[in-house]
Amino acid sequence: MWRSLKTLLRDQLNPEELRVLYKSFDIIGDIAIIRVQNILKPKAPLVAEAIMETHKQVKTVLLQTSPVLGEFRLRKLQWIAGENRTETVHREFGCLFKVDLKYVYFSPRLCYERMRVAKLVRPNEVVANLFAGVGCFSIVMARFSKVDKVHSIDINSVAVGYMQENVMLNKVKRQVIPLLGDAKEIVEKQLRNVADRVLMPLPEKAYEYLDQALIALKPSGGYIHYYAFEHARKDEKPVEKVKARVSEKLRKLKAEFNMPFGRIVRPTGPNWYQIVIDIQITSNSAV
Ligand SMILES: C[S@@+](CC[C@H](N)C(=O)[O-])C[C@H]1O[C@@H](n2cnc3c(N)ncnc32)[C@H](O)[C@@H]1O
Repeated sequence: MWRSLKTLLRDQLNPEELRVLYKSFDIIGDIAIIRVQNILKPKAPLVAEAIMETHKQVKTVLLQTSPVLGEFRLRKLQWIAGENRTETVHREFGCLFKVDLKYVYFSPRLCYERMRVAKLVRPNEVVANLFAGVGCFSIVMARFSKVDKVHSIDINSVAVGYMQENVMLNKVKRQVIPLLGDAKEIVEKQLRNVADRVLMPLPEKAYEYLDQALIALKPSGGYIHYYAFEHARKDEKPVEKVKARVSEKLRKLKAEFNMPFGRIVRPTGPNWYQIVIDIQITSNSAV
């Protein structure tokens, strides 16, 4: 695909422009999101047309003009080719996720993580997903495990609206319960000591909300899937750095725990990584 895209653009871009063209871009449903370096901005429509030519399922191309920002984790998007819209339906493992990329967070790059976590869930577990977005982790879990309930919180009302729609689209109304609000408040008011497993797929806030993850877990403990961003030089191990920081906090919170698994989910920049660690809480005194 990359080779045919480059071939198509060979006559329209000069060698320097071809050299700085990013190799990867996201396709979400029938929308492609591209990023280009400043020198390529005037040629972005040509790149977009070439993508639509080489990827026939793409009906819209959007240019990402900012990093993922703010409480709702949104990126600024500019329409450049095809149908002028930001709503689409993405398919993943047979699940359908309706999203409006202008108003909600969605990343197809987390699909492996969603299935990995779903496969760990044991029959009849109760799960709290503290940062659920449009419900992707919760829905994959409901479809591919025998989970009892997934309480699925998000602070973005548009995301929770799409989550409600996705719950119906995927026929998981019995298992997935969308909740609108701040995860701290909802856990403290409604979800104390109910969960066997807690998901924290928001690296920017996972450390701050660790207290609430423990409050949500049953006194007998359970599992926390903790996501973080970590910087690591070549001689450092990013997963170990996250484990060390989280261990220190868990000890202060008087939890007994072990960390059976951790991995780099993806690199996010030079020497920066997205990390997941699975934490097993074996004794939990948080109430
Ligand atoms: C990185 S996204 C992850 C969404 C989803 N888990 C996924 O993988 O698509 C983080 C989500 O957390 C939500 N969020 C941010 N702060 C929150 C808070 N204090 N309480 C609940 N949700 C929050 C954002 O609106 C966003 O949808």
